Amino acid sequence: MRPDPVADIERLRRSRNAVILAHCYQPPEIQDLADFVGDSLGLSRTASETECEVIVFCGVRFMAETAHILSPDKIVLQPRTDADCSLADCMGVGELSAMKEKHPDALPVCYVNSSVEVKAESYACCTSANALKVVDSVPSSEVVFGPDRNLGTYVSRHTDKTVHVFRGACEPHSTADLADLDRKIEEWPEAEVMVHPETPPDFWDRADAVTGTGGMVEWVEASRAERFLVGTEKGMVYRLQTLFPERSFREAGGILCRDMKLIDLEHVASSLGDLEPRIEIDEALRKKARESVERMVELT
Ligand code: 13P
Repeated sequence: MRPDPVADIERLRRSRNAVILAHCYQPPEIQDLADFVGDSLGLSRTASETECEVIVFCGVRFMAETAHILSPDKIVLQPRTDADCSLADCMGVGELSAMKEKHPDALPVCYVNSSVEVKAESYACCTSANALKVVDSVPSSEVVFGPDRNLGTYVSRHTDKTVHVFRGACEPHSTADLADLDRKIEEWPEAEVMVHPETPPDFWDRADAVTGTGGMVEWVEASRAERFLVGTEKGMVYRLQTLFPERSFREAGGILCRDMKLIDLEHVASSLGDLEPRIEIDEALRKKARESVERMVELT
């Protein structure tokens, strides 16, 4: 155990010319020390634009992989390689190929919560922040969408295109507790309700805003309300409270992603010290996946 991991991180971050990126579901102490905290889209953009030699990615595997896909010349460290995403693991290339064969006129769009292999076999990638825009922008009237069925269904309800949705789901979001949301709506009847599109449709019916984590920040910024119920992973409440200390937030639905909570300060310090564990991707695969990730960045 290090006596003061934060001091070690500060020293190493400078000597390694490193930036620390954190998703807004990360634990408070990780969010507090990160150079940038954001949603999947903001993190992808920051990873591709930042001038540094090392990126320490505090999030789950697909996020660190996306950073490496976009920034192959930088060392991308993921302090806990076992921090994975149940959703990304839902759909393999075989399943995507089967959907492509069944719908030969459809272009495949994959949610960024997917494997590098699935990204490489997709026309374009998207995040919750831009899924509808990406689907609307691809040059086909039919789209194969995966792995998340809830986000895919949400998009299909808001586009004129035909969307063939894969059956996958984020375990914590798709099993969120609707009774908990209803109870909190009763307790805070004046609160605005924001829910992530990875939650099931019953959540959307009760919400003022169905949007990703970046969209929630924008929603609060534009709103005059004082209280908000937050239907996404619990870490988001800390993010919102940090950004808007004068408003009140409560998580709703009991959504907890254990993988997002695996990284602690000690892991960040050791990772910066050892420059391990690094994200490594086969170069041909990385280049193919990059096309679909770049198309997302271009389209939005
Ligand atoms: P956002 O893109 O809204 O940050 O969501 C990421 C995620 O993994 C949701 O489960």
